[in-house]
Amino acid sequence: MAVTTSTLTTLTADQVVAQLRALRTRQPVKYWAFYSSQLGGVVTDPALMIVPFDDHLVHRGHGIFDTAAIEAGKIYDLEAHLDRFIRSAHNSKLKLPTRDEMRDIIVRTAAASGRREGSIRYWASAGPGSLGLAPAAGAEPGFFVMIFAGLSYPETWYTQGLRVMTTTYPIKPPLYAVTKSVNYLPNVLMQMEAQEHGVDNGVFIDEAGNVGESSNMNVAFVTADGTLKHPKFDHILSGCTSLRLLELAAALKTRNLLKGIEVCAISVAEARAAREMLLIGSSVKVAPIVEWDGKPIGDGKPGPIARALRELLQEDMRAARDRLIEVPY
Ligand SMILES: Cc1ncc(COP(=O)(O)O)c(C=O)c1O
Repeated sequence: MAVTTSTLTTLTADQVVAQLRALRTRQPVKYWAFYSSQLGGVVTDPALMIVPFDDHLVHRGHGIFDTAAIEAGKIYDLEAHLDRFIRSAHNSKLKLPTRDEMRDIIVRTAAASGRREGSIRYWASAGPGSLGLAPAAGAEPGFFVMIFAGLSYPETWYTQGLRVMTTTYPIKPPLYAVTKSVNYLPNVLMQMEAQEHGVDNGVFIDEAGNVGESSNMNVAFVTADGTLKHPKFDHILSGCTSLRLLELAAALKTRNLLKGIEVCAISVAEARAAREMLLIGSSVKVAPIVEWDGKPIGDGKPGPIARALRELLQEDMRAARDRLIEVPY
């Protein structure tokens, strides 16, 4: 077997930092502040936003995360995201700081970023100390918070709608689908598959032939008779955006735009016959899906309920005082 003759450098600490900075220069990122319980504070240099390789979050996927939004200097619906994070930690047997400590760290990391618009993603890890499976003896659980630019989508998604395909990848079993762990391999593969097919995203279908969710977003439908239908949350992620929209949508019933609102099993056949198909999530908000597996949804154009729900959500993000936390910049 041929053995390479080039030598491997053993790096000094200064060289490591220089290499980390060079990496970020080659590929700039919009990460503005990062809190790490392991570092014991916040860093604003993206080169220093690091986690030890032997943290079980990295090499075993034993970690969880969640993402909330900062809009106009306020954090929206953080309590709902913390509820889900705490449920995910419970399902994953991960230890967390107290809810008050987490909220405080998140708010203060947001302040350290100085940014009035962006995303907050936070993680809990099992901690470093071994390359085994169960956490190492004495492993210190980690808590991390990143303030970053967030995921953005083309404006045409809202003005013209987007196209999706049924993924060939199997949906996660319910326990893993309701837990927001860092195991997003099926979600990643679904999105890459969609890109390879020249469409915008994929949709998971469950074993019973009912609609599940998309890669990092929920889906919902407006049926021909004007009912807003959302899949049950027992085998998909409980989207904070969907849960809030299901409440806000009551206003559309009052305005006679919707006849009813249901959370129920939705067969693929029923879904394909819908008037509108919606993509819903913290990053995308509400976007109309106009084509699924090459066939139009409704008349193949963005519909009024997608627009009305997006407006209701935008208004809620601006004005729902009980759901907004002012960032103390
Ligand atoms: C798999 C999956 N489904 C749905 C959602 C939508 O959830 P949310 O509205 O809380 O962003 C997300 C995003 O967190 C997700 O990753």
